[in-house]
Amino acid sequence: MRILGIESSCDETAAAVVEDGRFILSNVIASSVKEHQAFGGVVPEIASRQHLISMIPVLDEAISGCGGLDAVDAIAVTAGPGLVGSLLVGLMTAKTLAWITGKPLVGVHHLEAHLQSAFVGWPDRPPPDPEYPQLALLVSGGHTLLFHVTAPRQRTLLGASRDDAVGEAYDKAAKILGLGYPGGRIIDELAAGGDLKRYPLPVGLRHSPDLDTSFSGLKTALSQLVARLGDETIDRDLAHICAGFQHAVVTALIEKMEKALGQVPVRQIVIAGGVAANSRLREACTDLAARHGLSCILPPRSLCTDNAAMVAAAGMLAVEAGEFSGLELNAFASSTLSRRGGNLSLCPQ
Ligand code: KG4
Ligand code: ZN
Repeated sequence: MRILGIESSCDETAAAVVEDGRFILSNVIASSVKEHQAFGGVVPEIASRQHLISMIPVLDEAISGCGGLDAVDAIAVTAGPGLVGSLLVGLMTAKTLAWITGKPLVGVHHLEAHLQSAFVGWPDRPPPDPEYPQLALLVSGGHTLLFHVTAPRQRTLLGASRDDAVGEAYDKAAKILGLGYPGGRIIDELAAGGDLKRYPLPVGLRHSPDLDTSFSGLKTALSQLVARLGDETIDRDLAHICAGFQHAVVTALIEKMEKALGQVPVRQIVIAGGVAANSRLREACTDLAARHGLSCILPPRSLCTDNAAMVAAAGMLAVEAGEFSGLELNAFASSTLSRRGGNLSLCPQ
C-alpha cells in the first residue's frame, strides 16, 4: 500500500510517498526557517503564508517521481498538534485531493508521526524492525515525553517535562547567547568544540523520584551566567558554555531514561523528534543501550525534524486499524496526553 503524507504543522511544508508504511519513495521538504530568523522564532502568520506558497510545488515534486496521484492508495495528513493556520493549509490540500480522487483520508497526530520516524527508511537502506517493549523518548520543539511502548501504538507515558520542552530550551538558550533561530543545531555544533566541565549548569529534577524533567531552571541559570560573564568572555568561551548547557540537558534526559530502565522491562531504546538529531544525545543513548544490552534506534537526522515520510508511516498504522477520517477533519492546536498516553490517534482536545 502506497500512502501520500502531508505535513504543515509548523515551519516545514512537506510531502512524501511511503510504501507499506516503511519504505520512502519520495520525501520533499521546504522550510520557511529563513523567513522567521529575524524574529527569533516561528511567526505563525508567516508560516501559514509560506505553506500556501510551497505546498503545491512540494506536493508535485513528491508525487511526480513515483507514478503521480493514481499510484497513491490513501492520503495521510497531520491534523495537530501545531499552528492552526499552518495545519489548515495541509488539511485543505489533503481533503481536496481525497475529495477529487475518492481516495481514503487519514488524519494523523503529529507526535504519533514522530514516533514512527524511527521505523521508516529507503528501499536501499531498509529501516530497523521494532522490538517490544521499548523505551521511547520523544524530544521536539514542543514536547519532552518518555513512553513505555509494549506494542505498536500501545504505550504508557512514564514522564514529561513539567515546563519547557527540550527543543524550546535549546531555542531559548540560543536566544540568550545571541545565536539565532533555531538554536538546537547551532548549540550542538558549537558544543562539539567545548569543555563540558568549564561551566557546569544545573540538571533539573535530578533528585525527584518520578521520571519527569524540567528545563526552565537551566534556562534561568544560563541567563544568570551570561549576565555574570559579560560579552567578551561569552564570545571567547561560547563553545564551553554551549557544551555545559548541552551536558545538563542530555544528563537530565539520560538519567531519567536510566531510572525508567530500572522500573519497566525494555528491549529497545528509541528516540524521535527534532532534538533526536542532537549528536551528544545520540551518543549518550547509544551508550546507555550498550550498558544495558539493548538495541538502540536513532532515526536518520533528516527524519528527526518535521517531515512527511513519518506522517505517511503513521497513516499506515491508522489504515491498518481502519481509522479513516471524513472530510470534516479539522485542525487542533494542542492535545492533552493522559498518563496512560496510549492514544495518539485523533482525539483532539
Ligand atoms: O520535531 P521538530 O522539527 O518540530 C517540532 O515538532 O517541534 O523539532 C524542532 C526542534 C527545535 O527546537 C530545534 O532547535 C531542535 O528541534 N533541534 C535540535 C537539533 N536539531 C533540531 N536540538 C538539539 N540538537 C540538534 N542537533
Ligand atoms: Zn515535530
